[in-house]
Amino acid sequence: MSGRLVIAIDGPSAAGKGTLARRLAAHFCLPHLDTGLLYRAVGVKADRLGLPPEEVAAGLQLADLLAPDLRTDVAGQLASKVAVLPQVRDNLLNFQKKFASQKSGAVLDGRDVGTVICPDAPVKFFVTASAEARADRRYQELRGRGVDTIRPRVLAEMAERDRRDSERAAAPLMAAPDAFLLDTSDMDADAAFAAALAFIARKGFRSSGP
Ligand code: C5P
Repeated sequence: MSGRLVIAIDGPSAAGKGTLARRLAAHFCLPHLDTGLLYRAVGVKADRLGLPPEEVAAGLQLADLLAPDLRTDVAGQLASKVAVLPQVRDNLLNFQKKFASQKSGAVLDGRDVGTVICPDAPVKFFVTASAEARADRRYQELRGRGVDTIRPRVLAEMAERDRRDSERAAAPLMAAPDAFLLDTSDMDADAAFAAALAFIARKGFRSSGP
């Protein structure tokens, strides 16, 4: 390997960043941070306790990240509402930067990892897919978990969240200029992983494993 491997992965919801991040972290034996979980935890806790999100973000605890309802679409919407607040983002910044600066290297996925959290990461991906493909995946995932919903509703909620994430003034969702664009509309998880590995190899990094 050449240097410390930090992999920054950004993109809209349900594009496949989480799956890719987990697979790359396992492959390169790196710690992984799903930064969206931080915003979900802040949104859910602030809503439940009626506290200012900025205050919740400043005092976020590990236990908050283990709350059972963080993966729901309601939590996703709450997250994207608190994520527009600059003070919330500021209060979560140091933790994320510290995670990224570990000696081992790291994988982080979210919306502003390559642009704000780790602008110097040697490997950046912007993972995207058509709105239709992403809505289909999210719909199948929700149905698989036994959630009763309809596809148009999934598509509308996803579009609302993506619009809020892209149009906010503070650290909007966008590709870093040096990010590798990975459009997964017609790719399965294996193909996306293979394309990512090929890019990482071109950057001079190889897995030390078998
Ligand atoms: O990735 P996930 O869907 O869990 O993220 C939930 C929300 O958290 C996003 O819609 C976005 O508003 C916010 N977020 C963010 N910056 C990040 C990660 C997530 O604003 N780095």
